[in-house]
Amino acid sequence: MCLDIKKVRNETPGISHSIHMMAAGSALMPQCVVDTIIEYTKLEAQIGGYEAHAQRADELDNVYNIVADHIAAHPREIALMENATVAWCHAFYAMPLAPGARILTCEAEYAANYVAFLQRAKRDNLKIEVIPSDDTGAIDLQALESAIDDNVGLIAITWIPTNGGLVNPAGKVGAISRKYNIPYLLDACQAFGQMPINVSDLGCDFLSATGRKFIRGPRGTGFLYVASKWLDSLEPAMIDHFAAPWVTTDRYQLRDDARRFESWENAYALRAGLGAAISYADQLGLENIQQRSWNLAETCRQMLREIPGCRIMDAGSINCAIVSFTVENLEARDTAEILRNKGIAIGATAPSSTRLDAEARNLPVMMRVAPHYYNTQDELEIMTNAIRSLV
Ligand SMILES: Cc1ncc(COP(=O)(O)O)c(C=O)c1O
Repeated sequence: MCLDIKKVRNETPGISHSIHMMAAGSALMPQCVVDTIIEYTKLEAQIGGYEAHAQRADELDNVYNIVADHIAAHPREIALMENATVAWCHAFYAMPLAPGARILTCEAEYAANYVAFLQRAKRDNLKIEVIPSDDTGAIDLQALESAIDDNVGLIAITWIPTNGGLVNPAGKVGAISRKYNIPYLLDACQAFGQMPINVSDLGCDFLSATGRKFIRGPRGTGFLYVASKWLDSLEPAMIDHFAAPWVTTDRYQLRDDARRFESWENAYALRAGLGAAISYADQLGLENIQQRSWNLAETCRQMLREIPGCRIMDAGSINCAIVSFTVENLEARDTAEILRNKGIAIGATAPSSTRLDAEARNLPVMMRVAPHYYNTQDELEIMTNAIRSLV
């Protein structure tokens, strides 16, 4: 099936306001997501928040099914969260790691995850080890396997980094983690919504993602997947009386599903919006979305290469829908600002978001364009011409 781009664009109100290529930051929501959030909020205003929750309980419960189906998991394995970082941290800080345990990660690791490694390394006397990249810029699988010994307590990598087109071989990393029975925490934040995700194929124990990027959901949403085998044993670092009901004065009882990582109060309108966004993407088909957005990104790279002084900085042999680049004599943030004033939204990505990779490759602040399936080749031309006019 091919995507009906005219229909998709008609269903995307933001299209008429700007040329928006920021899916790696925060994408344009489809109208159905906006309507779901507004309608739910209106209901809260009319009958009250608790009453709205009671009236819409089935629909809200169904969001767990929608997320689970989307990644081929079980609804028990899903915790809904306010963003990807909170989701990731819940898994990471719950993970029992003995003093001296080694955490294996990759050069593309995201800043929020790495500072958490640093904190636990300091607090719990852990070792962080960065597996080098291979010639293509992806995590070197041989180096990963040779680094494994009995002290490895966790493999935690970022599938698609925030700063470019690299797609790490997350499934192959999962196969290694399974082979040696090492817990595997996967940051799928930038993958969610631009490609199919199947947790069995990935072999991960934990997976975190956000709602506002390629899946086109609202800000302030995300989820954590926790493989069922962990649900008996993993104690969250923080709990409340939703995660762990207070059953006698001196005892609490952890929930038996991944919602032991949630807490009592939540933004239900946004949750409903996240469900609507995933259903919308599922109807279009993630293979179709991947094909169109990755093709547009490839066309974008070709157009950019024709601009004098432009260098594409994406690592990896396979490239996703995130394009990072520099242009001689153009400062990335200033350029993004100039383009924004012309109604073209692109981003800038700073070394501090992916410091390991940035220092290894001596990366400056780069421009970041993330075309989604609702963008067009004409829009790419307008964007690249606008940059060319500044050179
Ligand atoms: C690779 C990656 N992981 C995690 C995050 C954090 O997501 P959130 O801001 O929803 O916590 C981001 C955000 O840009 C990201 O690019």
